[in-house]
Amino acid sequence: MFSRRSPLGFLIALLAAFVSLGAASLSPEPLTERDTTSTASTFVYPTDSGNLTFALTAVKSNGDLYFHMEAPAGNSWVAIGTGDSMSGSVMFLIYASSDGKGVTLSPRYSSDEVEPSYNSKLNCQLANGTGIINGIINYNKSDIYVVNGHCSNIPSVYPKALDFGNTQQKFIFAVGPSDHTIHSNDLNAGIRRHTEYGTFQMDMTKATVQNADDVTVPTGPAAWQNSANSKLVGHPTNDHDWTGPIHALAMCGAFVIMFPAGVIILRVMEKVKLHAGMQGLATLVALIGVGIGVYLSRMYNHSKNISSAHQIVGLVLLFACFAQFALGYFHHRIYKQQQRSTIMGKIHRYAGPVILILGALNGFLGFSFSDNSKANIFYAVIIVVVFGLVGGLLFWKARRKARQAKASFAGMGGPFDNPPRGYQGAYDVTPPQGSGYSTPYDPSRSNIALGNMPSHGPPGYNETPTYPRPMV
Ligand code: HEM
Ligand code: HEM
Repeated sequence: MFSRRSPLGFLIALLAAFVSLGAASLSPEPLTERDTTSTASTFVYPTDSGNLTFALTAVKSNGDLYFHMEAPAGNSWVAIGTGDSMSGSVMFLIYASSDGKGVTLSPRYSSDEVEPSYNSKLNCQLANGTGIINGIINYNKSDIYVVNGHCSNIPSVYPKALDFGNTQQKFIFAVGPSDHTIHSNDLNAGIRRHTEYGTFQMDMTKATVQNADDVTVPTGPAAWQNSANSKLVGHPTNDHDWTGPIHALAMCGAFVIMFPAGVIILRVMEKVKLHAGMQGLATLVALIGVGIGVYLSRMYNHSKNISSAHQIVGLVLLFACFAQFALGYFHHRIYKQQQRSTIMGKIHRYAGPVILILGALNGFLGFSFSDNSKANIFYAVIIVVVFGLVGGLLFWKARRKARQAKASFAGMGGPFDNPPRGYQGAYDVTPPQGSGYSTPYDPSRSNIALGNMPSHGPPGYNETPTYPRPMV
């Protein structure tokens, strides 16, 4: 163990700690007692990807903290926080610097179970100097973060964060997902929710010295084994955040699968009520997805103000979905009563594809927003397949109808002899008197032209003429 009688002594001690801690990161058995007379305390926890080490010495006279951290660099970030929950915790968060070799130490505060925010009042720096190494180093074929930090007077900013007289001072730790990378010097860099977190305790009376000159740092086995002054509390938790994937599934499911299916039901299968049912269900799914999106929004600093293009476009589209449903419903009601097209029907018809396409495109913004841009490639493939299929079916149907219309011009043996029931057939309207239809009147027939004229001659002027294809 080294004593910090001079800055140089401290720096040498930190370096020695670093060397020994590096050796420790692969230690399979962290629970070995250390020198109990030491004034520093060390906590070591073997995470799934290697040891997380935190060695601390606090200074009573000025409230400063000196600490040494090590952790597997495969995690996008690693943090130690004061207290036993995120709420009210002062956190020492580390992640790779912009060149991917150094390390950024970002002191943060968290008021809830949400992404902690950088607080510039927390004066924490990397301890730099001759022989001190901070950064990502490769040890035994593993990359590890190595950080030597110094924070000035934490109690002056958050008096309740640490109790130097507490023999069971609680701390929390957490590691970020390994499928994300942060390369940033920005102290405000966004982090993704943890994959594992837990709690430990330290005897602060053993980890605290009176004056800065008395600071000691652990070396040798003391540096990398759990000290008698610290221990794990409870069981660490593996955490997986499902809200993002569920939100994505609901929203993309609604806009890329359900709404387009509703279009096919109407235009190809010609079932107006089923169309309404499907679009209503998709709107409900979108509502639930947006609810989850709003919950998700409060979790991250970049989304909590609901001001990004992705969120605003999404909210506007949700509103538009409800408006579409209402327009479709009222148009349908009027049509049933009066057999006429309405302005509502027209808006419904033209706004539908726009909403659908914008909604699907908003998925791209979503993946980029959640720092998951590589998912956009798969998403693009799905979009091309689905929209290609929908376009193909609509084209096929249009051609089929055109062919039928042509056949009806020929007059005989065309579809008028046994006209297909179109989606407007669901309207169940009474055939106009004297229309000459041999089958029930079907207002869906877009091919009603000369071919549907009664064989006994044109209707009189007071009779109902042929019906154009109505809007639904
Ligand atoms: C984007 C950043 C973060 C988000 C969104 C987040 C979110 C959450 C959520 C939602 C929970 C509750 C989990 C559950 O009920 O199973 C939780 C718990 C926890 N988190 Fe975080 N967290 C973040 C960062 C951190 C950091 C940096 C630490 C640092 C040590 C941490 C430590 C913990 C601990 C120890 C718990 C369990 C105790 C508690 O409920 O407060 N978290 N977090
Ligand atoms: C058309 C509507 C929407 C679609 C298609 C959509 C789709 C998506 C997708 C695909 C993701 C990526 C999820 C992931 O990578 O795990 C995402 C993320 C997200 N969306 Fe949406 N979304 C929509 C509307 C909304 C709305 C209205 C809000 C909130 C007001 C919202 C909030 C969020 C948030 C907070 C994230 C995650 C950001 C992060 O992880 O940092 N979204 N969305």
